[in-house]
Amino acid sequence: MANLAWINGRFCELDDAKIGVQDRGFLFGDGVYDVAKIYNGKPFRLPAHIERLQKSCGAISIELPYSAEEILVIVKKLMTESECSDGFVYMQVTRGCAPRDHFYPEGVTPTFLIYVVAIGRPASKDTVIPADCITLPDERWMNCHIKSINLLPNTMAIQKAKKAGAGEAILYRPDGIITEGTRTNIFAVIDGTVLTHPESNLILTGITRNIALEIFNKSHITALEKPVKLEDLSRATEIWTTSTGMEITPVRKVDGRIINENVPGPVCSYLIEEFWKIVERECWN
Ligand code: PDD
Repeated sequence: MANLAWINGRFCELDDAKIGVQDRGFLFGDGVYDVAKIYNGKPFRLPAHIERLQKSCGAISIELPYSAEEILVIVKKLMTESECSDGFVYMQVTRGCAPRDHFYPEGVTPTFLIYVVAIGRPASKDTVIPADCITLPDERWMNCHIKSINLLPNTMAIQKAKKAGAGEAILYRPDGIITEGTRTNIFAVIDGTVLTHPESNLILTGITRNIALEIFNKSHITALEKPVKLEDLSRATEIWTTSTGMEITPVRKVDGRIINENVPGPVCSYLIEEFWKIVERECWN
């Protein structure tokens, strides 16, 4: 079945979806996006992704002319029509089409694209593949809490990681504070405590990150939203990434140094088990 799209009220095949060349997303990167995963024909935590998309729109003064309920209906229709069992829902909003001018145009309808794309290999707790990471300076802007379509620093960093034979780059600020990955949030276990960067303008507050924190809050494991410094990574006994795309991914090596011989380590294994229980509960019932 073809991947299906919905763009400003019209359903079509993804390859047939079109925007004008004066779209501000195309010319200025003036837009935001969000991505949710589909398991077993059901979108996982879609309301949280829609809420974050609405917040991102609000942060750059785009008025989204659709309610969360209306977006849910569109996504459900796309999923049913495309018979998508495992895949992604991609949602992008730009300020719309207008003659090129840095000022925000008045009275322009935002461009709103939603599409569903299937993935061949359904993800599960048995498909977890550990990742190697490198560390790189975080060269992004000071509004990383907005899920902006301006992803050049992210794509440049992950490309460097790929060149170095790694799957993700762990980013750090000039003061040595680790913020997040190029497309993931980062967790480390140091002195027996799970640590991740606090919610702030320096990171995207990941939906998967929040699920991980919920899981630890209900467990005997202490998890704190506290920044980790680059120099402290050498004391980490476990590191993992969280994201919609790759769920919980244990990190084997950072900059060539082995974090722990057996990945996932005990804390990450616990998290993987609990995370997939939630996915099963919400998408298989
Ligand atoms: N990326 N940090 C960044 C910079 C991200 O781009 C993402 C997600 C995350 C994890 O957030 P979540 O758990 O809500 O997916 C953290 C998406 C998947 C992407 O760009 O495709």
